[in-house]
Amino acid sequence: MCQYAVELDNISFSYEGNMVIDNLSLRVRPGEHIGIVGSSGCGKSTLLKILAGLYVPDCGKVVVAGEQFPEKIREHAALVMQNNSLFPLSIRDNITCGHDIMEETIWTACQNASLAKWIESLPDGLNTNVGERGNQVSGGQAQRIQIARALCKNAQVILLDEPVSALDQDTVQSVLNALNKLLIGRAVIHVTHHRETLDNGYTVYRMEGGKLVRA
Ligand SMILES: Nc1ncnc2c1ncn2[C@@H]1O[C@H](COP(=O)(O)OP(=O)(O)O)[C@@H](O)[C@H]1O
Ligand SMILES: [Mg+2]
Repeated sequence: MCQYAVELDNISFSYEGNMVIDNLSLRVRPGEHIGIVGSSGCGKSTLLKILAGLYVPDCGKVVVAGEQFPEKIREHAALVMQNNSLFPLSIRDNITCGHDIMEETIWTACQNASLAKWIESLPDGLNTNVGERGNQVSGGQAQRIQIARALCKNAQVILLDEPVSALDQDTVQSVLNALNKLLIGRAVIHVTHHRETLDNGYTVYRMEGGKLVRA
């Protein structure tokens, strides 16, 4: 196993000349949990997209699970975003993302994400379409579908972008419970407005001025 699950060395990133990440470095060990807080627009989601292999920084080094190429990084990092981030496809396709995954693995993930009972009650089961941006399922179900996707992927690095911020209070705890099953033993970077959702196991940073400072 690599010494670090995540290594960012002096990365910078700009959107058309607007610098959002400025010479930022971060190291995360396997199994370590990092929380990131910070005001809206400070660059938290941009940082997660770089860690997910979706964006490439202008300069600096990104190593995730020992990989440096974005297409390889994408295999080892799973991103759970805010609400409304599902594809307009079936629950199954949203979980497998088109990969050939055994039925048993899918159902185990659904059980761990507390989705199995609900899916079994649907006439079309796993083949039920979630609608445009997941509008046929509730916010909590949409988040649990993303959690099941990350469980199936068995990614070493879990990236959470305000995963409960769009949920009503009754749903937050059930999604956090499902998340806890996903996070055990993995490197986690959890962006949140709700610091109280981070337990004592987290090392918390604040993002400001394009950098991370211990909060
Ligand atoms: N695709 C984009 N094109 C241009 N500017 C963007 C884009 N995405 C985000 N930004 C800008 O970059 C800054 C950081 O955005 P973001 O990473 O989403 O912040 P946060 O997640 O902390 O709210 C903001 O000023 C935002 O307006
Ligand atoms: Mg954001």
